[in-house]
Amino acid sequence: SEYQYLLVSRPKPGVGLIQLNRPKALNALCTPLILELNSALRTLQADKTIGAFVLTGSDRAFAAGADIKEMKDLTFSTAYGADFIEAWSDLVTFLKKPLITAVNGYALGGGCELAMMGDIMYCSQKAVFGQPEIKLGVIPGAGGSQRLTKAIGKSRAMEVILTGDNISAKQAGEWGLVARVFETPQECLDGAIAAAEKIASFSQIAVKAAKEVVNKSQDLGIREGVEYERRVFHGLFGSKDQKIGMKAFAEKQKPEWSNE
Ligand code: HXC
Repeated sequence: SEYQYLLVSRPKPGVGLIQLNRPKALNALCTPLILELNSALRTLQADKTIGAFVLTGSDRAFAAGADIKEMKDLTFSTAYGADFIEAWSDLVTFLKKPLITAVNGYALGGGCELAMMGDIMYCSQKAVFGQPEIKLGVIPGAGGSQRLTKAIGKSRAMEVILTGDNISAKQAGEWGLVARVFETPQECLDGAIAAAEKIASFSQIAVKAAKEVVNKSQDLGIREGVEYERRVFHGLFGSKDQKIGMKAFAEKQKPEWSNE
């Protein structure tokens, strides 16, 4: 494989699957792994035949966090000077195609943060989430304090981040951290791949716009957000796929998307 820490495949038409593959360290997210992940996502993103991604780990661990052994001797000036963790934020800002994260086993610290970068998160019964950084004398550093709070609310996020206690799969489902809890890891991965395949079967233009407007809701107030949505909605009447989709409905045909 061209990657040391990843397995990349295409399990279904339009679906790019990336599996974190550093089993001996429970997929601890060392810098070389993050750089590979960036590169794999960029390659798949540039591929017109890919419509959606799935990111997963192993049955035992999605990822047990950033690599503690790599971080332990960092100083303020090396962390700040090299903008340690900056490569992580790139992981989502450039991604325009939907990413589904399928979590089995541990998703702790940076692993939980990476999982939350997905547009949709699924997990199985044995998944364990948490932000245990407080136990190491630090705090979440890849968006955890922001994304977890948006996802489950302030009081619950405070409890998780301040106590370092884990979140069970059941709790993650009830709190809405994940969209769905599957019985087994295989069902979770199959479910993620099936959702990605479905997404990839629609107009890529419409999918891109849908992801963009939902993401705007994270940054904008409701009035500006609704206006933004309407502008993008109007814009889609300039696409070929709007004509294709609505004409097909009126003629009781299946649409053949042009992605234009
Ligand atoms: C480096 C790690 C690691 C990590 C596990 N390993 N997590 N190495 N960084 N985050 C390594 C262990 O050192 C060990 O290597 C091997 O993986 C197997 O782990 P064990 O501990 O032996 O397994 P187990 O007893 O089953 O316990 C699993 C575990 C535990 C509960 C997940 O490994 C654990 O607590 N890990 C750390 C979790 C954590 O604190 N994550 C947050 C990190 S801070 P050897 O060589 O001994 O076999 C963080 C900051 C993010 O993520 C901020 C910015 C991104």
